Amino acid sequence: MGETTNRCSNQEWLDEVYEKILVKMKAECARVGTMIPYSPKEGRYHDLDGMGGIHNWTNGFWPGMLWQMYEATGDEAYRTAAEGVEERMDEIFTDLKGVDHDAGFLFLLSAVADYRKTGSEASLSRGLFAANLLAGRFNPIGNFIRAWGDGMTSFFGDGDVSGWMIVDCMMNIPLLYWASEVTKDPRFAHIAKKHAKTAQQYVVRGDGSCNHIVGINSQTGEFADNPGGQGFEKGSSWSRGQSWAVYGFALSYRHTGDESFLNTAKQCAHYCISNMAVNDWLPLVDYRAPEEPLKYDSTAGMITAAGLLEIAEHVGEYEKHLYTEAAFRILRACDEKFANWDPEEDSIIDGGTYFYHDPSGENTEVPIIYADYYLIESVLRLKGKSLFTW
Ligand code: GLY
Repeated sequence: MGETTNRCSNQEWLDEVYEKILVKMKAECARVGTMIPYSPKEGRYHDLDGMGGIHNWTNGFWPGMLWQMYEATGDEAYRTAAEGVEERMDEIFTDLKGVDHDAGFLFLLSAVADYRKTGSEASLSRGLFAANLLAGRFNPIGNFIRAWGDGMTSFFGDGDVSGWMIVDCMMNIPLLYWASEVTKDPRFAHIAKKHAKTAQQYVVRGDGSCNHIVGINSQTGEFADNPGGQGFEKGSSWSRGQSWAVYGFALSYRHTGDESFLNTAKQCAHYCISNMAVNDWLPLVDYRAPEEPLKYDSTAGMITAAGLLEIAEHVGEYEKHLYTEAAFRILRACDEKFANWDPEEDSIIDGGTYFYHDPSGENTEVPIIYADYYLIESVLRLKGKSLFTW
């Protein structure tokens, strides 16, 4: 890798950005409290503004940020707000039609983070209930966890989605590994591992690029197709999906010790690193889209960086530098291009894109909460102050 463009060292950048996070998050926590935000409008977060209201898959990221900040600082304001959000999220359990595979994103960063940090029995129950819901989506004929419910058919067309699994779920299955760890019952982890093996087979291509969606015949378990998803087209390479694969397979290695998962994570990581290195370390929305229009997705950068730091924890000393240095390059490039450190305005990282084809433009290059979550997690991990949540 070549010279960094910024003049200060990685350590200096890290120390500065950590101080900026402390200021920004203190102000945000005071303003946002127990709201559950997604993307600010005119500098302000609003409650439950994500698609799907209380069921929106991103609702765990704000409490996740709060638990990270509580771990780093011990400031009780973060814990109080996180606990308030967690109680509000109980509403999810009153309408199970709206629960899909994103139970992992929702509850790992809220109830399970609380349990890991405080040992709360109520949080343990919430986490285990969510894990049972996720395990209940397993299709034992095809060995995969079903992604979405019927509500999603209108989003992608009117077909049968009962056999759809998606790359994103690699970040949901750590809920199952956790459930096995706390209950000492391996059933949950067996499901997670079987799903990860199926994803390894049908999501990841030979060059480390990924399909977003895998269609499996839900009656016979046979592979059906790889429909296009949130990227440019069928067969392209949606960058956030790539980042879920990097982090998700690394986590499956952490939880199972199966080296093939670490190798898959590395394969996907090398593909992401190559694609970002030729673009000033900035993440495009899709690595296989036309050069114009140029569209970024900062969330893919933040998640990839977080995943690279996970990989760095599991490789030998001669490999570690590749992953850590690449993570720094991405974090610094996105900080330079997308960060808003004004404590009077909500959200840090702009430039997030929900999906490639967005005629309204409302979901293109906007601040999205999970970019901030993964930035904070990465910076705190590099400072030795993060809470392990996955
Ligand atoms: N998990 C949904 C997304 O990444 O857009």
